Parts: sequence; C-alpha cells; structure tokens
Amino acid sequence: MLNPIVAISNKLSCMLDAGRDKKISGRNLGVFVPTPFAKSHGATGSQSAPYLGLAKVMEDFDPKPDDSFIDIGCGKGRVIAYLLRNNCPCKITGIELNPSVASVARSWTSRFKNVEIVEGDAFGLDYNDYNVLFMYRPMETDTFKLFVNLLEMQLTHKIKLYYYVDHQSGYYLNDRPGWNLIRREDIYREGGYYIHKEPQRFSVWEYLPDN
Ligand SMILES: C[S@@+](CC[C@H](N)C(=O)[O-])C[C@H]1O[C@@H](n2cnc3c(N)ncnc32)[C@H](O)[C@@H]1O
Repeated sequence: MLNPIVAISNKLSCMLDAGRDKKISGRNLGVFVPTPFAKSHGATGSQSAPYLGLAKVMEDFDPKPDDSFIDIGCGKGRVIAYLLRNNCPCKITGIELNPSVASVARSWTSRFKNVEIVEGDAFGLDYNDYNVLFMYRPMETDTFKLFVNLLEMQLTHKIKLYYYVDHQSGYYLNDRPGWNLIRREDIYREGGYYIHKEPQRFSVWEYLPDN
C-alpha cells in the first residue's frame, strides 16, 4: 500500500501541476488516459510528466532558436507546456498515437507558432528533422528496442535524448556504439514533494552516428 505521506504529497504535487497547466493551456493536462494501443503498438497510457521532474531531467537544456525538439508520445502536451512556460524559442514538435489525446494537445497549442502536433505513430517520422528528443516512457521495452534500432538506421547527425522513466528499458542503450551517457539519476522527491508515487529514474544521452 502507498505510504499516506507519499500519497498526500503526490496529490498536492499533481494539484500544483494542474494549476501550472491551466495558466498555459487553459486546462488540466494531468488526467491519465489509458491506451487502446497497448497490444497493437506496445504503447503506454497517457500519463503526464511532473513539472518539477521535467525541470530536473532537462536542467541542462538551453534551447536555441535553431534547435528542433520533439516529444515522442506527447500525450496532452505537458512537456510542451513546460517548454513554453520557459520561453523555449525553438521549434517544438509532439507526436501522439492516440487521436483523442493528440486532439487535446493540438487544440491548446494551435496559438503557438513554433509548436506542431503530429497525430500518428512515432515509427513513421524521420528523426533527422530533430536534434533534441524527449521520451517519457511512451513504449514498452520490446517496442523501445525497435525504436532505438530505427533511430540508429536513420540518424546522420548528433542528437540528444532525454529518457524519463528509463529503469525498465534504458539498459538497452548501455554500451551501444554511438550512445554516450551524460547523466543517469533517480527521481522521486523534488522541491519538497513526492512527484512520483514510487522512485523513478531518468537518463540523458547523446547519440553520434558512425557515418
Ligand atoms: C507516458 S505518456 C507521456 C506524455 C508526455 N510525453 C508527457 O511526458 O507528459 C506516453 C504517450 O506516448 C504515446 N505513444 C505511445 N506509443 C506511441 C507511438 N508509437 N507513437 C506516438 N505516440 C506514442 C501514448 O499514447 C502516450 O500518450
């Protein structure tokens, strides 16, 4: 059973995140939506990453106007909201498989000229169009492995990958040619709140293809 202190603290953290959401998107982006694509696509449900977690995971991200960022499995757009709150000047793309969730992300981001929401499967894009990739565990492990293989086949330039909630599948990147681990840390209690119900882990990578 969940420790009651963790449960209350996590609830407060979620309420604060909902307030942050409303300021930028006019709605609460934090409501979980189960996925109908688990069996067909190895997809996880639409769970939004906590703002304090994003601040920690992307603490070294200093976006420049000519960067191109993509949230792979963007859900309702929490990561995009985080970047916009921080005046991100670069192009921001979100791709989302679940049409009902993608339409939420598209509806509130449509007023931002530097944001594009693509409804569809992340396996259908060319990642040479981006240099900063973000994932909040959108895929189960077997699908994640296939996705990494796709990146390695496609990429002709250096990318950075922020992989939040990496403890099930992040090992696949360990010791793989071209992948350099920049940081890997646990994340649980941030800013005085239990931002997750149980400890999580994230990693930050650079991939340099061997052309
Ligand atoms: C855990 S949520 C993360 C949402 C958002 N990135 C965030 O951090 O707040 C993962 C999302 O990835 C989406 N997803 C899973 N597989 C996908 C795929 N193959 N292509 C595009 N989106 C996918 C799911 O529908 C879900 O909305």
